[in-house]
Amino acid sequence: MEQDRAALLAALALQRDWGADEALDAAPPDRSRAPAPRAAPDPAPAAVPPAARATAVLPVAPAPVAARAAAAAAAADSLDALRDAIAAFDGSALRETATNLVFADGAPGSGLMMIGEAPGAEEDRLGRPFVGQSGQLLDRMLASVGLARQAGFYITNILPWRPPGNRTPTDTEIALFLPFVLRHIALVRPRHVVLLGGVSAKALLRAKDGITKLRGRWHRVEVDGLGALPMLATLHPAYLLRTPAAKRDAWADLLLLRRTIDAQLPQT
Ligand code: URA
Repeated sequence: MEQDRAALLAALALQRDWGADEALDAAPPDRSRAPAPRAAPDPAPAAVPPAARATAVLPVAPAPVAARAAAAAAAADSLDALRDAIAAFDGSALRETATNLVFADGAPGSGLMMIGEAPGAEEDRLGRPFVGQSGQLLDRMLASVGLARQAGFYITNILPWRPPGNRTPTDTEIALFLPFVLRHIALVRPRHVVLLGGVSAKALLRAKDGITKLRGRWHRVEVDGLGALPMLATLHPAYLLRTPAAKRDAWADLLLLRRTIDAQLPQT
């Protein structure tokens, strides 16, 4: 009973941090007027303007090792094969300093794939992404829009190995592992992708802009075999832990995600 109460109070505190204490929508409805016609659902991802498509050039990894990464990724024809290929790939020193490979977690068939930056200490210890403090916040955030890790989403990172001391991944490391990430997406075949934080957003959107410019809207990214896939950039949960005021923006992004998913579900 006491535990239920504590969980409810924690959920309430999260909603308050979201800025969701008075109204869920960004603009509260004017109830003094006749009901407005129902707003059209968010445009389906097909309506994302072509200008939002990723066009910039990727950072490059050194040629021979990059070619080996690309070949190993392309040869993987299942998620298990991709995991094995990453584990066997010896082109990055990160493999030598990390404890465990951190491949992915959650439900690959859910239609929603989340991509973070790189494992931290807890993820490295357990071999699962987003299980530390920021992962727990992320799980609570997603639960508040009805998405649970067991069935509602699948999650991975740009880097499968923890950078020593949790340092920021270098451009070379990102470029080296990007073929594995793109193959990962192609094998999972999600309907929507969420990019958690600047490293992930810049890598997949091939963008120079920072996350505050990229977040809050759908982008289109060409993925082999899947065409132009809708990807939503949002703030990283570790940033939200450091900057609670930014939770309002993250909440707006999650509402956009929820509305887009709902608009594409068959109407009952
Ligand atoms: N931060 C990330 O980007 N990924 C993790 O798995 C954990 C923390």
